[in-house]
Amino acid sequence: MLGSVVLLRRLGTPTQTRRLLSLSAKSNKKVAVLGAAGGIGQPLSLLLKNNPMISSLALFDVVNTPGVAADLSHIETPAKVAGYQGNEQLQQCLEGCQLVLIPAGVPRKPGMTRDDLFNTNASIVRNLSEAAAKYCPKAIMGIITNPVNSTVPICSEVYKKAGVYDPARIFGVTTLDIVRSNTFVAELKGLDVATTSVPVIGGHSGITIIPLISQAQPPVSFSDEELEKLSDRIQNAGTEVVNAKAGAGSATLSMAFAAARFASSVLEALNGKAGVVECAYVRSDITEASYFANPILLGKNGLEKNLGFGKLSDYEQKLLTEAMGELKGNIAKGEEFVKGN
Ligand code: NAD
Ligand code: LMR
Repeated sequence: MLGSVVLLRRLGTPTQTRRLLSLSAKSNKKVAVLGAAGGIGQPLSLLLKNNPMISSLALFDVVNTPGVAADLSHIETPAKVAGYQGNEQLQQCLEGCQLVLIPAGVPRKPGMTRDDLFNTNASIVRNLSEAAAKYCPKAIMGIITNPVNSTVPICSEVYKKAGVYDPARIFGVTTLDIVRSNTFVAELKGLDVATTSVPVIGGHSGITIIPLISQAQPPVSFSDEELEKLSDRIQNAGTEVVNAKAGAGSATLSMAFAAARFASSVLEALNGKAGVVECAYVRSDITEASYFANPILLGKNGLEKNLGFGKLSDYEQKLLTEAMGELKGNIAKGEEFVKGN
């Protein structure tokens, strides 16, 4: 729970929070978590309950949301918590939302790839996206459910079919790749992790995850062998957790931290804060892949400007070339899933 503690510290104690609120009076956002009773959903909802920008926290799942909502509702922060269970309650959950986070779906077990989750999770994301397109079409969507490389195109195709598509509002949450890269680089170089920043581009699975160590801040240097080992660890960090959990799922606590950071950045930008940048997986014309993650300037309507990824080292260019085939295949699979149904 160290991540949670750090984020709680960043967001402030409840007393500080109350003071902040009276100063900014911007506790005005409704946020929904779809899949709120799960391994990610519960700690993510806890972190969001502590976010002073949220006035209403709507928790949806197919099971157990009444209990999760009752539990969280006793916490002495302003966000009003409501639990919704079953598809007939999705409308009430989603109406009026400015941000919808989706961690609904099954996680990996050892030996599985993220793409192995497609058959189960594609229809879950499609159905939840259909509801969001209908009941809160202007909300920012943050898709956490794997395989992210395919579920973001699925959400986009659903929005196109519904006639409400705005590519600036649909994001794949890849923040965990950045959180991990910051942590690993800071550990290796003895840096303060709070001021270490490593962009990660591409997609969110194996070789499609491309850490840009050459653009780390503060600048760092590694031997070729160290660089290869570090990049490989970042690309396979999800599998590291899946194997350590030995059948009990994948990253949940670090993912909740990462999604809460992403949510906080989106809400700050919606509230008018300038210069908020996060890496995220979005519709893109930066490369030949039609969806791609890299630094994004967030604004009042979601994606304000795609910042691209600047100059790559030869090694990073090689990783990018290797990633393209898989990434484009994952995207096509997601798009075909909606078009064919
Ligand atoms: P989990 O099984 O613990 O929780 C998933 C939750 O989704 C459960 O509570 C389940 O009831 C709910 N759910 C299932 N179908 C639903 C539906 N139709 N509507 C609403 N809720 C539904 O899994 P988890 O560990 O929380 O992981 C969730 C997903 O997040 C997985 O696909 C996993 O691979 C992915 N994930 C992504 C990242 C990332 O970086 N983007 C990181 C970690 C995990
Ligand atoms: C992660 O990166 O931890 C997630 O995508 C979950 C997984 O399956 O590895």
